Amino acid sequence: MTRYQSIPTGLDGLVEEGRVHRSLYTDRAIFEREMTHLFGGTWTYLAHESELPEPDDFVQRRLGLRRVIVTRDGEGRLHGLLNRCTHRGATVCRQAEGKAKRFTCPYHNWSFANSGELRSVPLPRGYGPSFDRAKLGLGKIRVESYRGFVFGTLNQSLPPLQDHYGTALSILDEWLDRWPGAEIKLRRRTHRLICNGNWKLIYDNAADGYHPGFSHASLLRMRKARYGGGVDMQWTLGDVDAGLQTVADARNGCTFIDQRAEIARYWDQAAPMPGEEAYAAQIRARYPEVAERALDVVVGSGMNLNIFPNLLVIGNQLQVIEPLDVDRTDLIWYATALEAPNLPPEVNTLRMRLQEDFPSFGEPDDLANFEECQAGLSIPEMDWVHVGRHMDTGAEYDGPRGLTTGPVSDELPMRVFWTEWLKRMQSDDEMRAL
Ligand code: FES
Ligand SMILES: [Fe+2]
Repeated sequence: MTRYQSIPTGLDGLVEEGRVHRSLYTDRAIFEREMTHLFGGTWTYLAHESELPEPDDFVQRRLGLRRVIVTRDGEGRLHGLLNRCTHRGATVCRQAEGKAKRFTCPYHNWSFANSGELRSVPLPRGYGPSFDRAKLGLGKIRVESYRGFVFGTLNQSLPPLQDHYGTALSILDEWLDRWPGAEIKLRRRTHRLICNGNWKLIYDNAADGYHPGFSHASLLRMRKARYGGGVDMQWTLGDVDAGLQTVADARNGCTFIDQRAEIARYWDQAAPMPGEEAYAAQIRARYPEVAERALDVVVGSGMNLNIFPNLLVIGNQLQVIEPLDVDRTDLIWYATALEAPNLPPEVNTLRMRLQEDFPSFGEPDDLANFEECQAGLSIPEMDWVHVGRHMDTGAEYDGPRGLTTGPVSDELPMRVFWTEWLKRMQSDDEMRAL
């Protein structure tokens, strides 16, 4: 029996129990619908508040293919604005980030407040009584922030962010509370990769605990030979079905890999990093009462939380998926620092070193897989992508928080993704700027 029902024309028969059609990765019409019905059609991650900490700060982002500006006005309130002049359509902001009380369109100099309202128009005598300035503000996105994470949508029927992604956000709480009272700060667009592959290949992979022991075997085996067993992700080698890692359905398309049960001592099991002995010795000497706990938060959390459709929380980092075309995706890693009064600042130097590690030595393996999947999926005579692992082995159970949970190699996350994907793609919710 299929759990996917009432598939509309155009998507008819493309998503089945345990398999999906290759065209979902290669069809441009499907991609274009995703860019409105998923990106902006549901709550979509836009930015972190630490990227725009002061009044009048802004960052420019994409919501699907739409250019958008996330701003903080003079009173510190957040806004999401469509970067599209209401005169003849030019973008009004051309910088990636900065500080601005107003955005003045370079074409004819219409000028907008950083909260969106149209403030001034040059040579106003050219406009008669029909010109209603109040109706000519920038399009506004519905934005909500959860503990610094700013999400936006153009879907006015969605429940509030915390209701919609409540389960995933409760897992995010655990990630944020590793050092109680700490705030995270993003390092700006730290590590950026362009991939010749469909964006969903990246989301698929983010909760794929089946691949690391194979795709990253050279890295893992080299480390095992050099530093011994137990170091950094060694638990992904061998029979992961018999291991302690799990995957879970975090609801509404969100998914979660939990590796924490495999990590007895974070610091001792960390990947080696340049200069670690000197920094660790300094932390132990200067802050003996918190040193061991502080060294543990240098190391990745052992959590991989994927918030539909574009935010991946990996270890200590954020990865944001920005689709560019049906077969081209921008993949951006943001390193994070932790700030708390009782947290040694040296921790962040070590965190940065460790956060250079996997994007440099592991991510190229993943990127090669994404691009080779895209190449394979372009073959028209082979239709199906198999996502049925552990679908009918009886390995899934009701796990923590009452969430459907399975062994880490379970393709449950892909099936969860496709269920939400289809729901959003079928939705006739109205998408509208405010
Ligand atoms: S297009 Fe922006 S002022 Fe004319
Ligand atoms: Fe990987």
